Amino acid sequence: MLMNSSSPIGIFDSGIGGLTVLKEIFSKLPHEHTIYLGDTARVPYGIRSPETVTRYSFENTRFLSARQIKILIIACNTASSVSLDAVREHFPVSVVGVIEPGAKAAAAATQNKKVGVIGTEATVKSNSYTRAIHAIDESIAVFSVPCPLFVPIVEEGWTDDRITEMVAERYLSAIREKGIDTLVLGCTHYPLLKPVLTKVMGSSVRLIDSAIETARQIRDTLTSLSLLNGSSGPARHEFFVTDSPDKFLSVGERFLGRKIEHIEMTKLEMEV
Ligand code: DGL
Repeated sequence: MLMNSSSPIGIFDSGIGGLTVLKEIFSKLPHEHTIYLGDTARVPYGIRSPETVTRYSFENTRFLSARQIKILIIACNTASSVSLDAVREHFPVSVVGVIEPGAKAAAAATQNKKVGVIGTEATVKSNSYTRAIHAIDESIAVFSVPCPLFVPIVEEGWTDDRITEMVAERYLSAIREKGIDTLVLGCTHYPLLKPVLTKVMGSSVRLIDSAIETARQIRDTLTSLSLLNGSSGPARHEFFVTDSPDKFLSVGERFLGRKIEHIEMTKLEMEV
């Protein structure tokens, strides 16, 4: 494969949400070139079967692999949950998902060994976070709740809204009663809900942001592979979407906290 330390980092998500991971990459690795693919034509992944999401992940990976990426980030929690192993097996590229970094941070953070996990229905059903946390420490009790309404709420921009607080209360009261001291934000969109989640869970509950943990993991992995970009010139950031870029641009700039340039709509090569 024609890649070296100045090759880009490839990153895909079901749509806009993975920009929370990209934002952390920008902050921790400002000299890295990136190529982001948002599969906006087929979002959401969180309600789909593992087989369908795995097929989508393969098509996304094929698209990015053809662009000489040095490492692939599966930013989508749902896709990481159900397809990470299969993608690793099938493609000759280093792949990092968001589950292991979040699980590792949660296991390290909990004092009372009671951890909550919130995510899409597919992520919670896959048990990926529970498995990853138990691989580190089996004695940690993990309580998971799907919170499907959070994705449209965040995209609507209602991150600081009474309605969102009511929805969060309804979803989270059961795990709050379990006495968890750590909550994993197991979905790309949830970092934008941190203030509401802190209000509902109480400030003593540690929120684990998988996006931040994944960016750390990428920095460590690139360092150990001697693949950090040595150049301090301006980094190039390309964006691809599978549907019209309009909504991605308006909502995405809020997720990313900066302007999105160089965006293109693309068709993915379907599997036969
Ligand atoms: N990116 C997805 C995730 O992190 C959320 C949106 C979707 O369901 O596609 O699970």
